[in-house]
Amino acid sequence: MSELIEAIIDKAEYEHSMSLEEIVLLLTTPEAEKLYEAADRVREKYIGSQVELRGLVEFSNICRQNCLYCGLRRDNSNIPRYRLEASAIVDFGRRAAELGYKTLVLQSGEDEFFSPERLGPILSELKQLGVALTLSIGEKNREEYESLRKAGVDRYLLRIETTDKDLYERLDPGMSWTNRVRCLRDLKDLGYEVGTGSLVGLPGQTIESLARDILFFQELDVDMVGIGPFIPNPDTPLADADGGTFDLACRMMAITRLLLPDANIPATTAMETLQPDGRMLALKRGANVVMPNVTDTDYRKMYMLYPGKICLNDAPADCRVCVTGKIKAIGRTISVDQGFRRRRTFVKEQ
Ligand code: 5AD
Ligand code: SF4
Ligand code: FES
Repeated sequence: MSELIEAIIDKAEYEHSMSLEEIVLLLTTPEAEKLYEAADRVREKYIGSQVELRGLVEFSNICRQNCLYCGLRRDNSNIPRYRLEASAIVDFGRRAAELGYKTLVLQSGEDEFFSPERLGPILSELKQLGVALTLSIGEKNREEYESLRKAGVDRYLLRIETTDKDLYERLDPGMSWTNRVRCLRDLKDLGYEVGTGSLVGLPGQTIESLARDILFFQELDVDMVGIGPFIPNPDTPLADADGGTFDLACRMMAITRLLLPDANIPATTAMETLQPDGRMLALKRGANVVMPNVTDTDYRKMYMLYPGKICLNDAPADCRVCVTGKIKAIGRTISVDQGFRRRRTFVKEQ
């Protein structure tokens, strides 16, 4: 490894800053081991050994959007669609809380049925379980985000997917990149903990644009960053695309840890699809969160964003036991609180 690369990593480990050119170098250098070790040290220093578990409820796979990469896109007629009853959502949430989850992530496609009015009563029932609530249901207007926040939602996940506006608008027809950024800013403004992130390896995506994604996370000072490899889905127009690699997704994640040392960073499920035990490797390369599925088996195979999804035949309790065992086996502990971001850095005055 060149001295230059080592110096860049060294500086980022202590100063948490990097230029676009430096990020590009780290994304392309042949050997990433030093980067991974530095990300692991920064995670240990700012977060400690505990891993946050978030229970994921996939409550509807109906989506009004048509993203070219995603299996839930509205033009995909090869998957059966489902929408859980309110009582079933609450039930999954209750069982997750019984399994010890302190945070629930409610995720769906952009399903207009679930208006804030319909979600409100579900959210207040779930809130009574004493868990933190995260929503991931796509783009809404400010008033809708505001009423969801008032209904008790603590966090919101909305990946920017890519900071390359042209690429975004090509891959997500009918959607506006500017509106997506507006969503993220509104969410911050309304007091949510905000998570964003990107897909790695999209057709037409450059290394420079990936580097810009990381600077975007830093500029927005987001609380959570989920990064996953793009995995081509045979039911979509991008069936024959190349897809991203585990290694590049890990580099993106590790650099993000250096620049956002106290952020919550998940070891994503898509990483494990590409690499056996990929989530545990990711936990050793900067990640500190795992999001096991707490939806019943029947629904898992219908929530098919990409092929090769893990845990298709495992029940919520199986995943809980599995993940706990793996985390302990790598010498880490399971967090016992709700896992809000603990700020250890101060935003520099401009
Ligand atoms: N491969 C990997 N991730 C995908 N997502 C959608 N389609 C794919 C795919 N083919 C991700 C998007 C979205 C999240 C819910 O799933 O980043 O934000
Ligand atoms: Fe819908 Fe999200 Fe999939 Fe796009 S990525 S089609 S918005 S579920
Ligand atoms: Fe589902 Fe391992 S996390 S079985």
